Amino acid sequence: MAREVFNSKMGAIAAAAGSAVGLGNIWRFPYVLGENGGGAFLFVYILFTFLIAVPILLSELAIGRRAGKPVLGAFKALAPGTKWHLIGYSGVFCAFLILSFYAIVSGWTLLYAYRAVVGELAAISPDEMTTLYNHTSSDPVVSIIWMFAFIGLTAFVVMRGVQDGIEKYSKILMPMLLLLIVLLCIRALTLPGALDGLAFLLKPDFSKLTFTGIFEALGQAFFSLSIGMGTMTTYGSYISRKQNLVSGGFSIAGLDFMIAFLAAVIIFPCAFSFGISPGQGPGLVFVTLPNIFNQIFMGRAVSIVFFVLLSVAALTSTISLLEVVVSFLVSERGFRRKPASLLVAGLIGLLGCLCAFSSTIFSLFDNISANILLPGGALFIVLFIPHVLGKEAFRSELEACGTRQRVFGVLYFVIKYIVPVAIGGVLIYQIVNWLIG
Ligand code: PFF
Repeated sequence: MAREVFNSKMGAIAAAAGSAVGLGNIWRFPYVLGENGGGAFLFVYILFTFLIAVPILLSELAIGRRAGKPVLGAFKALAPGTKWHLIGYSGVFCAFLILSFYAIVSGWTLLYAYRAVVGELAAISPDEMTTLYNHTSSDPVVSIIWMFAFIGLTAFVVMRGVQDGIEKYSKILMPMLLLLIVLLCIRALTLPGALDGLAFLLKPDFSKLTFTGIFEALGQAFFSLSIGMGTMTTYGSYISRKQNLVSGGFSIAGLDFMIAFLAAVIIFPCAFSFGISPGQGPGLVFVTLPNIFNQIFMGRAVSIVFFVLLSVAALTSTISLLEVVVSFLVSERGFRRKPASLLVAGLIGLLGCLCAFSSTIFSLFDNISANILLPGGALFIVLFIPHVLGKEAFRSELEACGTRQRVFGVLYFVIKYIVPVAIGGVLIYQIVNWLIG
């Protein structure tokens, strides 16, 4: 059943990009960067994305494609009789945790699209915008209603196995989102005081970067690329052997980074211009962005389009998260797709209620999944390549498209030595810090 999800194998790279690009870029990246002092965080984030996260992305795609199965089955097929498939269980658990808070924020995105339509965001002051967000985030009933609407939408798509159709739309809608973001960047950069915001983003002040900031940059890099929990392993299994995984992986990471970076180029100039604290936390995008719509020609129409496109970007990510759990139940536990989708959506809705009632639980789920489970999972995935799959099998998978990969030697070295030491080092240091702090 799970094999039927994507009819067009060429679309699988676009689907993986759809999973990567989402609220992680536009909502999470700016707020985590804002809390960690700006430019220095960006510097470390770039390093982690291209040096550490891309090799893991390529490892996941290669493992999935080689096995031709979703994550759990992939590890069982490539390492039969071992415990490596436990990575799959951690992924399923992680998908639950991420979806529970991600669906809340996705619900807010829908709600803001609705507010834009009815004109509630028009002509209100930055202070009123903050009050509006505070009311929204502290009203569990509103959050829960919109969260269920969003989970329902996700379940509808996954249940009917029509991801392929969604990806076709998102191939048009994603470039539209990118174009809109570029236009908003131009407007943001011409706001009074914008340059202070740009300096906050681009001028690295390493004295503001704590070890926790480094740790969070690593987690954010993994979260943004959807790696460390098998999502990309599952998508890898849908990719045709004719596709060049290396160039595909770099394109996904490049696009993902660009959208996150440009979102920050809008948000920080906007925050500084309207007197909003850049470190104000998860509400950052909702209290800064709508202000800019009030400053542009046809702002109301633009705000509607923006929040609708953001909801679509969130949807392609929630689909990939729900798919991890559903494909597990379908291929490992003999469920049918429809009941599995409904059951999982219901359970996630219940967990999401906890996040709606308590911002502490919301942050806890956010932190544990991005900063502990994803790096932990990624560590095992990356150990799998040299120690189980083997160098030559990995090379043959990356070169299956017929192109010799000149970067292979460097890539393999990075995967074998640099990535495990970097992730292990950061994780151990942070855990020791917690224990003694
Ligand atoms: N990468 C998504 C984003 O940036 O919004 C979030 C995500 C999707 C994380 C799927 C993990 C995942 F498996």
